[in-house]
Amino acid sequence: MSVRELIVSKIKDGTVIDHIPSGRALDVLKVLRISGSENFRIAIVMNVESSKLNKKDIVKIEGRFLSKDETDIIALIAPTATINIIKNFEVVEKRKVSTPRVISGLIKCPNVTCITKHEGIETTFEVLSAGLRARCIYCNTELSYPEFVELILKQLGPKK
Ligand code: CTP
Ligand code: ZN
Repeated sequence: MSVRELIVSKIKDGTVIDHIPSGRALDVLKVLRISGSENFRIAIVMNVESSKLNKKDIVKIEGRFLSKDETDIIALIAPTATINIIKNFEVVEKRKVSTPRVISGLIKCPNVTCITKHEGIETTFEVLSAGLRARCIYCNTELSYPEFVELILKQLGPKK
């Protein structure tokens, strides 16, 4: 199939999360706590050619719009993502997500001897290499990308 063909159809109303680093579309859905058993129509496109990235993933969710908190969390796992808000088939808003340089109070440090295990000290991680790794500023423990995603998902707690 030619790369110029549309792989999945356009959506009428909802959100298109574009320019996701390839392979991360399912993690994006995980942090949005979308399992697929909801009533939204969802298209997941993975490993397609992109002009900006080598390869990219795209997630299209019909009838679902994202909160600021949700786009902030997407930024952590997909720093290159673009959030497109679609109304009546048109892109009415396009937002680049922005990766915070520092994440406070979201992820617990996995190091059992870290000072942040004591009460009253908020965890603080420095984001390294565009969302691929994070480092605890107190004990220097580094989290790899899978550890990072796992801790974000844990921190989000059980699905309501
Ligand atoms: N899109 C969609 N349904 C629509 C409109 C757009 O699924 N009704 C998708 C497009 O397929 C694309 C994304 O939303 O993946 C952004 O659309 P658009 O801004 O038209 O595309 P580009 O100009 O290529 O975006 P960018 O400049 O961000 O790469
Ligand atoms: Zn620590």
